[in-house]
Amino acid sequence: MSRGDRKIDIAVLASGSGTNLEAIARAIDDGEVPARIALVLSDNPDAFALERARKRGIPTRVVLLSDYPDRSSYDRAIVAALEEAGVDLVVLAGYMKLAGPEFVRAFKGRIMNIHPALLPSFPGTQGVRDTLEHGVKVSGVTVHFVDEGLDTGPIIVQEAVPVEEGDDEETLHNRIHQAEYRQYPRAVRLFAEGRLEIDGRKVRVIPGSTEERG
Ligand code: GRF
Repeated sequence: MSRGDRKIDIAVLASGSGTNLEAIARAIDDGEVPARIALVLSDNPDAFALERARKRGIPTRVVLLSDYPDRSSYDRAIVAALEEAGVDLVVLAGYMKLAGPEFVRAFKGRIMNIHPALLPSFPGTQGVRDTLEHGVKVSGVTVHFVDEGLDTGPIIVQEAVPVEEGDDEETLHNRIHQAEYRQYPRAVRLFAEGRLEIDGRKVRVIPGSTEERG
């Protein structure tokens, strides 16, 4: 099941700050994830994620929706850029666009997303706000494979984060971020080691280390 000793090539798609990109890049530098970031792609030319990538010497690309006549040709341009970079895995990290059907089909089972809530609760772009408004006591982080729905794909890893009395969107999201920086590199590592098996809605994690054996 292993992908062998080869490091996988990944692309990170980000629209904003890119702190998850940074966490994954650090985990790679520390030898925790057998991968190489071949491309950082953004739909936002001002995304700080691009700046982080440039500082690390990672190739970057901006693909603007406004440069394409429709959503489908935009998605084809994204797929072409990812194929040109030869990536094995696409990591959505604060990418603010829904992956269209052609994109999902081209990289079936090879696109991951991170969401700042325990899915299937609170999908969508306002996950942290919706969590607080609902009054739940436990939130968390979900890394999942991407299908054609909004945050509906098979779940890879989750970590619970308590909601504390007096939390606002910023304090809760900050705590959730800390869990994200643990779980996203972990999920990418499991993929890179060939230890994720998708079976319908379920993702089986093949044991391979003390941590995953429990
Ligand atoms: C994260 O909280 C992630 O869960 C959500 O968008 C945020 C991105 O943050 N999808 P960053 O750009 O990685 O700092």
